[in-house]
Amino acid sequence: MSVPRSDAFVLFGATGDLAYKQIFPALLALSRRGKLNMPVIGIGRSDLTREQFIARAKESVEQHAQRLSDPDCASIPVDPSEAAAFGKLAKQLHYLSGDYQDASTYQQLSTLLAHAERPLFYLAIPPDMFQVVIEGLKQLGCAQNARVIVEKPFGRDLASAQALHKLLETNLPQSHVFYIDHYLGKEPVQNLLYFRFANAFLQPLWNKDYIANVQITMAEAFGVTKRGRFYDSVGAIRDVIQNHLLQIVALLAMEPPLDNSQDALQDAKLAVFKAMRPISPSETIRGQFHGYREIAGVATDSQVETFAALRLHIDNARWAGVPFHIRAGKQLPVSSTEILLQLKAPSSNLVDSGPNKSPNYLRFRISPDVLISLGTLVKEAGEGMTGHPVELLARRYTCHEMMPYERLLGDAIQGDTTLFTRYECIEAAWRVVAPILDHTVPVYGYPPQSWGPAGALRLTATDGGWHDPVAPLDSEATTASSLTQTKNS
Ligand code: BG6
Repeated sequence: MSVPRSDAFVLFGATGDLAYKQIFPALLALSRRGKLNMPVIGIGRSDLTREQFIARAKESVEQHAQRLSDPDCASIPVDPSEAAAFGKLAKQLHYLSGDYQDASTYQQLSTLLAHAERPLFYLAIPPDMFQVVIEGLKQLGCAQNARVIVEKPFGRDLASAQALHKLLETNLPQSHVFYIDHYLGKEPVQNLLYFRFANAFLQPLWNKDYIANVQITMAEAFGVTKRGRFYDSVGAIRDVIQNHLLQIVALLAMEPPLDNSQDALQDAKLAVFKAMRPISPSETIRGQFHGYREIAGVATDSQVETFAALRLHIDNARWAGVPFHIRAGKQLPVSSTEILLQLKAPSSNLVDSGPNKSPNYLRFRISPDVLISLGTLVKEAGEGMTGHPVELLARRYTCHEMMPYERLLGDAIQGDTTLFTRYECIEAAWRVVAPILDHTVPVYGYPPQSWGPAGALRLTATDGGWHDPVAPLDSEATTASSLTQTKNS
């Protein structure tokens, strides 16, 4: 059954960082593909004219285009229709400056939405503002057919997520609420899911009998840029672990979905979320980079973590006894997100494959590019049965692919919730991180461009230590379909 498309797009938080970095470029891409034939109304607290708002949107898309002209993406042709496409988007843009608590903001919005029957509201605002905005939206005539996209983190903890959910549930049908997690719209994440289930050789290996441990590292070489105030109200656990990284764990660890329907995928994910044991404070390390407290908007005595490393257990038949080590941080040595599945060493009397010589891993890099590699041992030439590590890898740069926000906003406009999170998964994820929220674990300082506080090393010491992602190398620069060999140094 096809559902009607949204007929207006309203962006709360239109002058914020997320809008600037992600949403305007996504709107331009949608407009260029002819998928945004509707008014786009930005709402923000900054006092801007419509022209100033359009200028900000233009600056945003230009900066985005500059990012894509990184050397690695140099093959992207400059699109001569860029200016024309922005011109089309600019005509659709409107701006409403107003306080979210003020009833007159919604009265003005109502006038702007006079012709809309099914607007899509994007709440790119801090979670503590959701309630007041949802209450405000109720005043609009078109509210009952509206769709609402809510940004992560959804709530601050289990109780606040439940309260927000209740608020949404009483005002909108469940199928009209889109819980966005942009990681789920990333092509490399989709690729991970596909690779896992499309390849026969992986199927018998994907369990506790063959996998010794799993590591996920989300490293960012930059700090909190201009988001000090927001970041200091969340920290790494709420910002990326409760959502992006636990979603990745769910995709890695779930049972095969019963079919390819949206419900089957969500059911499989929910089952694994429910099997995750709440994380123990004794298996968590929190860190804060030196200099963080001097950033505008950050409390001078802030205890908020900019780094966290933890061990997660999944109590089900497939994963019992396999630790999942998760690490995320700002101001780390590189920007790269990698997943490593360490296989158990084979028992063989024939080959010399002791623990130090045994790569036996699968590595997936999902940012900044897509890389899939297999860590193997290959025999040294000569008489002995000794080997050296060789990594077989395939890599693809992602510049040409659809941006996650473009994909997800396009889906929401069409009413398709497939790539959005089911609320029950969000609730289950809050239960998993509940024991380590709110400073139950002390925070330790770490120098910028390091791998976090020294204590983080202890977590993986008995599992062979952390695998530190590196920045993409030229030697890895192969195309998607080619498979090359590089020797581990
Ligand atoms: C966001 C977090 O959700 O994800 C940011 O709020 C983080 O702190 C970002 O930097 C990372 O996303 P991506 O797509 O750049 O890897």
